[in-house]
Amino acid sequence: MSGETLSQSLRMSRTAVWKHVCALRSAGYRIDSSPRKGYILREIPDLLLPQELREGLQTALIGQGDIRFFPGTDSTNRQAKALAAAGAAEGTVVIAEEQTAGRGRRGRAWFSPPRVGIYMSLILRPDIPPQEAPRFALLAAAAVAAAVRETTGLEVTIKWPNDILAGGRKLGGILTEASMEMDRVEYLIIGVGLNVNLNRRDFPPELQPIATSIRAETGRPTDRILLTKRLLESLEATYNECRREGFAPILKRWQGFSEMLGRRVAVDVGERRFTGKVAAFGADGSLVLRSPDGETLRFFSGDVHFESFA
Ligand code: BTN
Repeated sequence: MSGETLSQSLRMSRTAVWKHVCALRSAGYRIDSSPRKGYILREIPDLLLPQELREGLQTALIGQGDIRFFPGTDSTNRQAKALAAAGAAEGTVVIAEEQTAGRGRRGRAWFSPPRVGIYMSLILRPDIPPQEAPRFALLAAAAVAAAVRETTGLEVTIKWPNDILAGGRKLGGILTEASMEMDRVEYLIIGVGLNVNLNRRDFPPELQPIATSIRAETGRPTDRILLTKRLLESLEATYNECRREGFAPILKRWQGFSEMLGRRVAVDVGERRFTGKVAAFGADGSLVLRSPDGETLRFFSGDVHFESFA
């Protein structure tokens, strides 16, 4: 497009157009220019920039307001919490290309190397009592699993409450954090971490046997911008469905991804280990086990391991 056409349609001087082109180039956009033909956009950077995520995003809330982008930060969940505590609106998204102190469930660290994953946190303000907050961990897992399956074709599964697995290894995880008042939830932070374009050897040795990435599973790189948009859309659609129809249809879909019913598992809670067969999942997001001596055990948190003799 010629500089003249751009300056007319954008209602700015040609010098201003040139300055914007320079700014875009330094942000990583590859734009060629020639005095006779004008400008051509050759390549957009492989970065989760707010303007790229908003382009054609099919949501009404999530990602339509503030998207905070960090080339690097400690933890997007921590950033989102600080924003939410300062009054940030529902639907605010915090996204980073790298985390230096990415947080996992149960106090663990989340490996977050630059530009090969998706590390993002959403702020939601659902009008629900505190006891319904744990549902959101399952809701988010169902939404993320659906988006990954649709976008990449990978047969992902969910391990309770919200580990995203492919080929039995961990592809992603969700960390939900809540701020509660006496009788209602003030805000929820839904933190999503996905291993996208890492090669197997990019994981530290201790993670190699248990972690995987979309690239490692499919053998090809995935467009992170597209996948992030599909994640935001899926999260919003699932959130709206929950508000409209309640949690039951979402729990059903979650179970379809989980392939856990009837399997023998061990659940670690602190130092203790419980074993049994998965009997059910509660409407509150809990896991129900039938122990070998017929006892029914209900868990609200814990680490699940599949027993290989299942
Ligand atoms: C798990 O342990 O499975 C949950 C991992 C959640 C990681 C994501 S990455 C984006 C967000 N920010 C964090 O610090 N953690 C979550």
